[in-house]
Amino acid sequence: MTHAEAQIRIAALRTELARHDERYYRQAQPEITDFEYDALKRELAGLEVQFPELAIGESPTQRVGDDRSEGFVRVKHRQAMTTLDNTYDEEELREFDARLVKALGTTELAYTVEPKIDGVAVSLTYEKGKLTRAVTRGDGEEGDDVTANVCTIRGLPHVLMPADDLLAPPLPGLIEIRGEVFLRDEEFRRINQVQEELGEALYANPRNLAAGTLKQLDSKLVATRRLEIVLYGLGACEPAPTGFDSQSSFQAQVRAWGLPVVEKFWSVRGIDAVWAAIGALDAMRRGFAYATDGAVVKLDAFTQQGVVGYRGAGQAARKLSPRWACAYKFAPDRAETRIRAITLQVGRTGAVTPVAELEPVLLAGTTVKRATLHNADEIARKDVRVGDAVLVEKAGEIIPAVVQVLLEKRPPHCEAYVFPSECPVCATKLVREEGGVKWMCPNPVCPEKVRRKIGHFASKAGLDIDGLGEEVVDLLLTQHLIKTLPDLFRLKVADLLPLKKSGEVWATNLINGIAARRTADLWRVIHGLGIPQVGAASAKDLARRFRSLDALAEASLNDLVQIEGFGEKTAEAVRAWFNDEANRALVADLQAAGLTPTPPAEGAAGGALAGKTVVLTGTLPTLSREQATEKIEAAGGKVSGSVSRKTHYVLAGEEAGSKLEKAKSLGVPVLDEAGFLELIGG
Ligand code: IVH
Repeated sequence: MTHAEAQIRIAALRTELARHDERYYRQAQPEITDFEYDALKRELAGLEVQFPELAIGESPTQRVGDDRSEGFVRVKHRQAMTTLDNTYDEEELREFDARLVKALGTTELAYTVEPKIDGVAVSLTYEKGKLTRAVTRGDGEEGDDVTANVCTIRGLPHVLMPADDLLAPPLPGLIEIRGEVFLRDEEFRRINQVQEELGEALYANPRNLAAGTLKQLDSKLVATRRLEIVLYGLGACEPAPTGFDSQSSFQAQVRAWGLPVVEKFWSVRGIDAVWAAIGALDAMRRGFAYATDGAVVKLDAFTQQGVVGYRGAGQAARKLSPRWACAYKFAPDRAETRIRAITLQVGRTGAVTPVAELEPVLLAGTTVKRATLHNADEIARKDVRVGDAVLVEKAGEIIPAVVQVLLEKRPPHCEAYVFPSECPVCATKLVREEGGVKWMCPNPVCPEKVRRKIGHFASKAGLDIDGLGEEVVDLLLTQHLIKTLPDLFRLKVADLLPLKKSGEVWATNLINGIAARRTADLWRVIHGLGIPQVGAASAKDLARRFRSLDALAEASLNDLVQIEGFGEKTAEAVRAWFNDEANRALVADLQAAGLTPTPPAEGAAGGALAGKTVVLTGTLPTLSREQATEKIEAAGGKVSGSVSRKTHYVLAGEEAGSKLEKAKSLGVPVLDEAGFLELIGG
């Protein structure tokens, strides 16, 4: 490779890795497997060794990410949370030992070998034995405060168990204990099943789901998912620890305090014994509660750890890595097969996903016939062709992925795959998703999009229309009985009779089923419309806040971001959807066809604000807008955005502007927070 070629490849690798970091850490939606990611990292590290003039700083072979996200309080770790170098190679593991033997001048070093849990790293702080804080790794120096969410974990004691023995060392004044939050496979499957029923995006694997859950702003939702935790590492300890001076004695102490620890670890001497322990771990890891993707080998004695220290001293915490530990990763479950065809799937949003149709192959206990190819860029990067022999991988993921093409087995005359420029269903020219990697079919009447949209609208996630499954939707579409969503509500029994022999009962039931959902809950309608970013929970928030499609359609960006848990992205997506003329026309047509959604039950009918309309303006001293809205609704009132003669009260806080003026000029009573609370009785 020439210098110029290396320069281009290195730049491409850096951009690509940055994108994958973003998806992995911030969005918890990786596009590629860990193994593929590690391969890219290695390629970059290799090129940087070969062309040192092109290297920028240290380029370790681990993910050096940053998981901090909006909506959380940031907390500094007392001691930085570093990561580890990964290896898949026995030789590299032996070199790790050789370096330590040389540095310490001792052979047969004492090590612990622990399962490497594939979860989300957190640091717990116990002060005088009480759990005071849980923080994510973040950038290594400061992370997000996720205490409320971690406190929902049932198996985690909030108080350390003191020793019975009077001679035992006292509880430390402050200790940071590091560990991993994870979800069991069964729990992962259960949650994904719920997601599927709700028509929400599926999580790629238990780790992503655990990461996504830990970063939920609503701890009540977190509590419905059974997160678990294991603890394995020491951070800061003040005063200096007494009672443990090594990783193995620390593990014993953590267990004695009553905290959940790894199911098994090995205390061994010398690298051969380490290697044997790794083999033993590999043989038993599938029986563990958590996904174990490798082994972490640690120098046991804290004094020896202190002597060898960290690589990358003087750099950012996230780039530090201990010389005293090494992660050996097990290669994922893989199988070789051949690609029979590449097909494209069009989703209801229009996203076009390429899928490899495979010669069936047995992989991790199931027969795999299809695997995702992610997107056009990934196909090009791997140069995947129809007829290719490929490796498919399933590392806990529900969707197997094609990870590598076996070029040496490529049949002759196998042509490069050209990603179609047109929608495979309606032949409309595809457009690239803004700022993303997906190709989208922009045609609003693309039959596949329409089919999926109607299917979603009618499904359990949407209006939950009895008898209107995918097959019936297909039938209605192919028989040209419906073209759009509102057409569903215009169907008559007579239209359906020709479809089935002696189908009167079926036809009557279906029409009745559809008619019964004309007054479906508002949130179901909002969810069923398929507004990007709006899942069931957000749809419920919107229904509670706006109470009608018309009010929602008029909601300003500002109104939307006021909703707790709504970021700018969701607010913008909602606004953009209603700004689209076609969508407004769709809503109007649904209403014209008789859809009159039911708003959520009002608060107490006899409440202090029953039948009253209240306008909020300015900043209240203690209540957020959302809290005030909740209270108004709970007291039977309705919140409106603008002041008119029909307004019963204006609830005004600091910096109330024109709405307050208008209220005064119209003679509408103005309440401050205290007056409001008194009115509703607390
Ligand atoms: S020790 C500086 N022990 O894997 C020491 N880490 O690739 C780093 N992990 O950042 C932590 N199981 O999030 C350690 N038994 C274990 C672990 C473990 C999983 C995670 C941890 C770490 C990453 C390293």
